[in-house]
Amino acid sequence: MQIKNDLLLRVIRGEKVERTPVWLMRQAGRILPEYRAVRESVSGFIELAQTPELAAEVTIQPVDLLGVDAAIIFSDILVVPEAMGLPYRMIEKKGPWFPGTIGSTKDLKRLQIADPGESLNYVLEAIRLTKKGLNGRVPLIGFAGAPWTIFAYMVEGSGSKTFSKARAMLYQNPELAHQLLEMITKTTIKYLKAQIEAGANLIQVFDSWAGILPPYQYREFSMKYIKRICEAITEAPVTVFAKGAYFAMEDIKDLPCEVVGLDWNMDIATVSKQMNGAKVLQGNLDPAALYAEDDVLVAQTKKMLDQFKGDKHIANLGHGVYPDISPEKVKLFIQTVKDYTRVT
Ligand code: CP3
Repeated sequence: MQIKNDLLLRVIRGEKVERTPVWLMRQAGRILPEYRAVRESVSGFIELAQTPELAAEVTIQPVDLLGVDAAIIFSDILVVPEAMGLPYRMIEKKGPWFPGTIGSTKDLKRLQIADPGESLNYVLEAIRLTKKGLNGRVPLIGFAGAPWTIFAYMVEGSGSKTFSKARAMLYQNPELAHQLLEMITKTTIKYLKAQIEAGANLIQVFDSWAGILPPYQYREFSMKYIKRICEAITEAPVTVFAKGAYFAMEDIKDLPCEVVGLDWNMDIATVSKQMNGAKVLQGNLDPAALYAEDDVLVAQTKKMLDQFKGDKHIANLGHGVYPDISPEKVKLFIQTVKDYTRVT
């Protein structure tokens, strides 16, 4: 199907565009009262994500209500461990929690490489319904967690400041770590291909916990597997968002991916120089800038756009939008990007 607003895909193809495309990580979620209303009609986040009609509805909400240039499928990176045999719960105000974790070869035997057509079919169905609902208005982004980030949750069992259990395994039992990463990678490749088959126009890989490893371990336990994913996904463009991975930018430049996400701590000029035009850059306004007064938010957004002006750029925040941000501020951010005339 022809996509009417294909700014995002055109930037990625290196074509000239009238303006910078814009979307927000976590745009489908608690910032919107309309999302909270749908969520309250079910038992919680997981039921919402597993009900394709509702997942499609909340995926489309930010396109209708905020005017973003892309939709991102409403789901979570943690559906992958679940499909592999490690279910999770979403604890209110705390985040994800896994009743069982992986700590030994015996634990690993309980896992399988998932068949997405079976255990993740609800996500694929949500993608198919979203495509129908979008009717070609904007591209749809599919996603998965990077193997290292998924591994971190599967070993740790929840979010953590240090992820010390997950990091301990890299020192105590690196073979086991690689076996688990291998299983996650194989599942993720199948899952991303199935998302594209179902209608996703591009893919984002979230390595949210990239920043907690020393560079040599990041190369061995994360980058290696991200590279495998990028090599395998040839059917659609891929964005790699490795939060905090300043030290790995030279390696990221060599990945066969099209787009690189920048978090808000990353210096735009530095990354731009490192990438040297090889990648489309995505990001990276500080999510907290959306707490500012309107004039400050507008100024900060323009400053960010100015700094990206020599590069192919997709405007976004440097991480997910915080749930207590006013939708009006999000709209102002989006409108500022839309009104901005690129100098190049
Ligand atoms: O709009 C979108 O971006 C699409 C949906 C999406 C969600 N999670 C929905 C969600 C996406 C892309 C994710 C990715 C995700 N999930 C990541 C990677 C991106 C990042 O933020 O670094 C990670 C690490 C997770 C794991 C996760 N899911 C955590 C740590 C939490 C708890 C924190 C929180 O925000 O509540 C979640 C829950 C979650 N995922 C919610 C949503 C809308 C909130 C659940 C609710 O509605 O109560």
